[in-house]
Amino acid sequence: MTLASASGKAILFGEHAVVYGQPAIAVPLSHLRTTVQVESLDPGTTGVLLDAPDINQSYWLHEAAGDDPLASAVRLTLDELGVEAPVDIHLTIQSQLPIASGLGSSAAASVAVIRALSAHLAKPLEVETVSKIAYTIECIHHGTPSGIDNTVVAYEKPVYFIREHKPELIPISTSLNLIIGDTGVAMRTTIPVNLLCERWEKDPGTYGGWFEEIGEIVIKARTMLETGSIDSLGDLMDQNQTLLEDMGLSSFELQRLIRAARKAGALGAKLSGAGMGGIMLALVEPDTAKIVETALKKAGAKQVFITEVD
Ligand code: PMV
Repeated sequence: MTLASASGKAILFGEHAVVYGQPAIAVPLSHLRTTVQVESLDPGTTGVLLDAPDINQSYWLHEAAGDDPLASAVRLTLDELGVEAPVDIHLTIQSQLPIASGLGSSAAASVAVIRALSAHLAKPLEVETVSKIAYTIECIHHGTPSGIDNTVVAYEKPVYFIREHKPELIPISTSLNLIIGDTGVAMRTTIPVNLLCERWEKDPGTYGGWFEEIGEIVIKARTMLETGSIDSLGDLMDQNQTLLEDMGLSSFELQRLIRAARKAGALGAKLSGAGMGGIMLALVEPDTAKIVETALKKAGAKQVFITEVD
């Protein structure tokens, strides 16, 4: 039996603007993982069986739709590994990450499947290749992914990311205490991404200006993270959130959680990921973490995760 896993992720700054060429910063969430177990099938049984008990799905690779993301991960990885002979295996995929919520569940599933197959077949892959395969699968989920999700999940390191540039892995000098509140509203990435694209096409001047302002916030945030002087990092999160609100990407549920976190003493709070649902992120001092957690639950968060990033 082989086991492999991949982490979730959170975008600290720059979501959406990253699709339009601005930089963004994302961090791995190493304690929230998707795990894939690979076992050989019983003798006499052939094929690749995919089991995803979290979403009540169990199916054979040869019966899966062409655009099925898990099946695509298997097909692309076997191709990349140059495996031509049939493999007879049973893959079980289990995740701690809520789906369609901004925590990178799809990238984590892809990377975990790729790592599991590569380990099971004893054919190592470069991280860059793992990221590239996962990117191809992200393209199935939504047409124009920036590539930030597959990158941060594959490298499992904080990343400063500009579309179509080599990702820069950045050191974080002072550990960050983050609280993630899940609105429980699942939102497919394509919906806010497409909506924003329509708005940008109608008014490129205004939206382009907002994207640039976000880019400037990201550059300042990078310096703060690298130097460890993070006193104003929370303010930058708030500024980024205001711009995301201006672009119409927040939601009633997100606003409620963001307001509650700030009121309970968070240093800053913003939505993270595609928005219009999914998760919000708050930066806290270690001694206010519990207070903010309680406030988020009271404000309707379906799940709250406390995490430290360093
Ligand atoms: O919600 P997620 O985890 O799919 O993140 C989307 C991030 C966007 O910037 C909105 C889109 C992208 O491709 O970068």
